Amino acid sequence: MAIIKLRSGNQDMENYKVEKKVENRVPSNEMAHLKLKGLGNPMVEIENLNFFYGEKKALNNINMIIPKHQVTAFIGPSGCGKSTLLRCLNRMNDLVESARMEGAIRIGGRDLHQESENVSVLRKRVGMVFQKFNPFPKTIFENVAYGPKIHGLKNKAKLEEIVENSLKSVALWDEVKDRLNESALALSGGQQQRLCIARAIAVEPEVLLMDEPCSALDPLSTGKIEELVVGLKENYTIVIVTHNMQQAARIADFTGFMLLGDLVEFGPTDRMFTKPNKKETEDYITGRFG
Ligand SMILES: Nc1ncnc2c1ncn2[C@@H]1O[C@H](COP(=O)(O)OP(=O)(O)O)[C@@H](O)[C@H]1O
Ligand SMILES: [Mg+2]
Repeated sequence: MAIIKLRSGNQDMENYKVEKKVENRVPSNEMAHLKLKGLGNPMVEIENLNFFYGEKKALNNINMIIPKHQVTAFIGPSGCGKSTLLRCLNRMNDLVESARMEGAIRIGGRDLHQESENVSVLRKRVGMVFQKFNPFPKTIFENVAYGPKIHGLKNKAKLEEIVENSLKSVALWDEVKDRLNESALALSGGQQQRLCIARAIAVEPEVLLMDEPCSALDPLSTGKIEELVVGLKENYTIVIVTHNMQQAARIADFTGFMLLGDLVEFGPTDRMFTKPNKKETEDYITGRFG
């Protein structure tokens, strides 16, 4: 994949430019609100992001900041670029042969495409959970211990501690503590998805990306995942794609509405759903298309 670097140079100056741009884009009272809610402390900064699959442009000049320790949701109709944007954040799109990106993405102030950036370290910093839960065909214990092990942890007691804490974080420990050596594939769908979240957080990522994590789940399991996402933001910055607007309204602090590769609007969820600034957002959330 070819990366076109648009800028280089002074990091402070670059941060300043991103802030300026956002100031220009968002009405000032909203900006004050965003700052209050932690946007003064961005986790992810996306600047002039364009993305192509071959000739096809999938993302159009995205500029935004994603605040630390908050839940940010992307909503929008199918095919509008939500997953593409999410996959840019841990360079999963690198795997697509014809893909090309322009612009800059910084996570925790580090440019994802700087030469010293190691993709395996990046994937540790930025974990991901998918729509179709995908536990490894291994034991419950081994699924959660997998990440810490490949990053070099050998101490058995420490691994056990991480497995226990990770499973507790996703409210799965009580359900599986007596069967840690059984296959993960024997768990229910909802349990498998919570296991995948435990596996992702076992390496203590800074950001957790979730691409429609509840789409394949029943309402009860969905409720459990939503509840734990809200709890997890204390320790992680969460970016979730959902085509379920009610889900975004329930769990996200910030919501971005995407349409045909554009980030049409981004702001605090309550404001997005009650007083959208753009006609397209209003049409979408009132169900006029989708
Ligand atoms: N690997 C790929 N190769 C080519 N085109 C793709 C690929 N993945 C997604 N696209 C296209 O990019 C656009 C955005 O897709 P996607 O990011 O999956 O949207 P969403 O997640 O909002 O449904 C769509 O037109 C889709 O067909
Ligand atoms: Mg998608």
